[in-house]
Amino acid sequence: MTVRVGIIGTGLIGTDHGQKLARQIAGATVAGVTDVNRARAEEVAAELGAAVFDSAEALIASPDVDAVLIASVGPTHAEYALACIAAGKHVLCEKPLATTTADALRVVEAEVAHGRRLVAVGFMRRLDAGYGQVKAAIDAGDVGEVLMVHNVHRNPTVPESYTSFMTMTDSVIHEVDTIRWLTGEEITSIQVLPPKRTPRAYPHLQDPQFVAFTTESGILATVDFFANAQYGYDVRCEVVGSEGTASLVNPTLSTTVLAGMDTTEIPPDWRVRFGAAYHAELQAWVDGVARGEAVGPSAWDGYAATLVTERGVEAVRTPGQPVAVAGIEKPPLYR
Ligand SMILES: NC(=O)c1ccc[n+]([C@@H]2O[C@H](COP(=O)([O-])OP(=O)(O)OC[C@H]3O[C@@H](n4cnc5c(N)ncnc54)[C@H](O)[C@@H]3O)[C@@H](O)[C@H]2O)c1
Repeated sequence: MTVRVGIIGTGLIGTDHGQKLARQIAGATVAGVTDVNRARAEEVAAELGAAVFDSAEALIASPDVDAVLIASVGPTHAEYALACIAAGKHVLCEKPLATTTADALRVVEAEVAHGRRLVAVGFMRRLDAGYGQVKAAIDAGDVGEVLMVHNVHRNPTVPESYTSFMTMTDSVIHEVDTIRWLTGEEITSIQVLPPKRTPRAYPHLQDPQFVAFTTESGILATVDFFANAQYGYDVRCEVVGSEGTASLVNPTLSTTVLAGMDTTEIPPDWRVRFGAAYHAELQAWVDGVARGEAVGPSAWDGYAATLVTERGVEAVRTPGQPVAVAGIEKPPLYR
């Protein structure tokens, strides 16, 4: 079966995913796209040989669309995911599943009422080879009991529209998911410690930010997040266990040995660093849809991440104060 995908949102990642689906992912075609920016949708549709739909609603309802990829801006995600569930269509929703916990819960409740999983959330780091090896080491018991997880997340720079709160909702949300996934535990508190500011940050942006989480069993997880780190895109993770450690390092892209120096290139941006993970995420999702299964992080994972980052926004407002995180009990559909 060829899965005919409809894409909502033809911005940066919608276009990137569309190009992969049209050219690289086996068993998929891009049936159509839509964007409130019609000109942009037409441009991408022409490139991918896809139709243009007048609205997200029309795309979701179309008999020519088997499954939906939501890549529009975050505040639109929950309504479109709900419409996909109502139409009984599989959906891969870019992170975040919703921008409020209440909206994320509506998606969870709708899927539970539907009775089977249709929603996957785009936490693609779970498909990264390096994170996969760290997870395998934990699951095999190699590091013993997990005690701490230290994360580094640095961007070269961010646009001026980026705020201190987006640190949580746009960036640290990835670590929230990887911490939950690696440890198999829910996060129970979040605290933000603002270090000395870089002179390169905009006045409205606290940068860097240091975030500390605790989990159900008392694991301490940290994120050193730096939005304007200048030097490159740098994502690392070290799991400290009772018997040893497991570390995610930057993949080596190239090395120059010159004039007494051994220089290793690091990824310039997230598209380069996680390109293979996006590919693996899309292929696994399409294969799952063809089998009638929702493959990938669930609506529950999307809900849990939004819950933590919503509390994280509160933690940004109250530096140094731990903010408790308490959600609903996990419904049986996701156990
Ligand atoms: N998983 C990842 O690593 C990753 C990376 C980048 C972006 N994202 C997520 O993907 C989403 C899109 O990010 P982006 O960087 O492509 O943003 P973008 O601004 O480049 O693109 C968003 C697009 O959505 C369109 N849009 C806005 N409202 C719409 C609506 N109601 N219906 C249809 N289209 C609408 C905009 O016109 C724009 O073209 C965000 O939620 C972002 O957090 C995830």
